Amino acid sequence: MKATAIANANIALVKYWGKRDKKLMLPQNGSISMTCDGLATTTTVDFGDYENDIVILNDEELQKDKEAIVAHLDFIRGMAGIKQKAKMVSSSNFPVAAGLASSASGFAALSLAASKAAGLNLSKKELSILSRRGSGSASRSIAGGFVEWHRGQKDDGSDSFAESVVDKNYWHEFRMITTIVTEAKKKVSSRSGMAQTVENCPYYDGWRKTINNDLDTVRSGIKNRDFTLVGSTAERNCLKMHALMMTTTPAIIYWFPPTMQIIQSVMLWREEGLECYFTIDAGANVKVMCLEKNAAEVNKRLLGLNGVIKTIICRPGDEARLVDKHLF
Ligand code: DP6
Repeated sequence: MKATAIANANIALVKYWGKRDKKLMLPQNGSISMTCDGLATTTTVDFGDYENDIVILNDEELQKDKEAIVAHLDFIRGMAGIKQKAKMVSSSNFPVAAGLASSASGFAALSLAASKAAGLNLSKKELSILSRRGSGSASRSIAGGFVEWHRGQKDDGSDSFAESVVDKNYWHEFRMITTIVTEAKKKVSSRSGMAQTVENCPYYDGWRKTINNDLDTVRSGIKNRDFTLVGSTAERNCLKMHALMMTTTPAIIYWFPPTMQIIQSVMLWREEGLECYFTIDAGANVKVMCLEKNAAEVNKRLLGLNGVIKTIICRPGDEARLVDKHLF
């Protein structure tokens, strides 16, 4: 009863920031992301003769902080009608918990590996829904290329799942350059930050009103491979989300000085004719979007900025998949 899966992280172009149902992890709004080749989590799950669930992340056995993973395993055991405890070993090739969507690739890989190991053969839609129960953005890491997570209307969440808008080859020139300015764990998790925002941000209604327009613009921009439209809309959407974060009580400011420096630089480079746009999640690291023809130059300039520790250049990546090589 062992299986291994690989899932890539994803970076949202139109963000998810708020739930309408915390238990079922149903979002306030739909979102669109790019699945990122090169930001991968590999997870092996074995259900067997273990006394307790064993969770090993990046070579470290978790004693505390494993409730969310154990709850997800419980959920899958319930679906499969099994009782055995599990050993789970997982490893990511990028810094976790620094706004690089490790929960997305993590819960997508866990959902695929654990459901398979438990004897379930879920459809992609079912896998996306299952991953969503672990972490909202994980619903999108099940699919490849550019992906839309539908908000859905139903109270039971059965229509809130993600699927590809176009596959990874459709717009293979698109690049997402992830800059790392800190590898420190963020102080406020996405989960509590978004809950607080929905609760008390005075501008949340404004966000809600503009979201469908952003979704329509980015979706059609992707289909037409219109980089200017997609990049500029994604950048504005990110700034709107951070404006929400900054105006909740207490304020949540994820940016560090290098974050601001990258923002200013990207805007300046654009004025000079080097087309690129930024997006930032719940963390200080900035992702810079550009096309393949400009990627080397943008990357060189980013690496020349103070405070940029490293960069990872991602193209549109694969959907989550099972592999034969187990981690133990
Ligand atoms: C800013 O999916 O990590 O990255 O559903 O509570 O696990 P939970 O939150 P999570 O939030 C992601 C927030 C974001 C935007 C996005 O990826 O759409």
